[in-house]
Amino acid sequence: MDIVLYPDPRLRRKTAPIENFDQELADIVRAMFEVMYRTKGVGLAAPQVGLSLKLLVYNPEGDPAKSEQERVLANPRILRRSRNKEFGEEGCLSFPGIFGQVERPLEVTVEAQDLNGEKHQLELKDWDARIFLHELDHLDGILFVDRFQPGDKVRVKPQLTDLEAQFRASRASS
Ligand code: CO
Repeated sequence: MDIVLYPDPRLRRKTAPIENFDQELADIVRAMFEVMYRTKGVGLAAPQVGLSLKLLVYNPEGDPAKSEQERVLANPRILRRSRNKEFGEEGCLSFPGIFGQVERPLEVTVEAQDLNGEKHQLELKDWDARIFLHELDHLDGILFVDRFQPGDKVRVKPQLTDLEAQFRASRASS
């Protein structure tokens, strides 16, 4: 399992709901956490490993030694979002070296299924809410650079152009 990099079209694809809560799903989740830790991330959405599924994982500490912080959300949806929003810096494993400010609600109430298919409600705040909302966007084919302010969009344009050139080169050689 490898990280899918911008501008791979798989990052823009529509995702399908998880229907089978089986060992295969558990194996996918484990592999996603391994890739996430290896690449020093705090969150990962299924499209980022080439799977068009409504599945995301995160660990706000990004530390495999703190596995009690691991969160697995299948078929997540937002029930409520706070009117209060805040800008914060974000990066994304599909955009190596690119960072920028994104405005997100400070609190969200979420419904999602766990690995057994059981539904849970979660109240997420601050950093947890930011990670979740970033990963949820991936399930809708929305990328964090889409939400950058005009100044950040201009600033990262050369880096995006580089990633686009690398993607075309990797396509041409495969
Ligand atoms: Co991302």
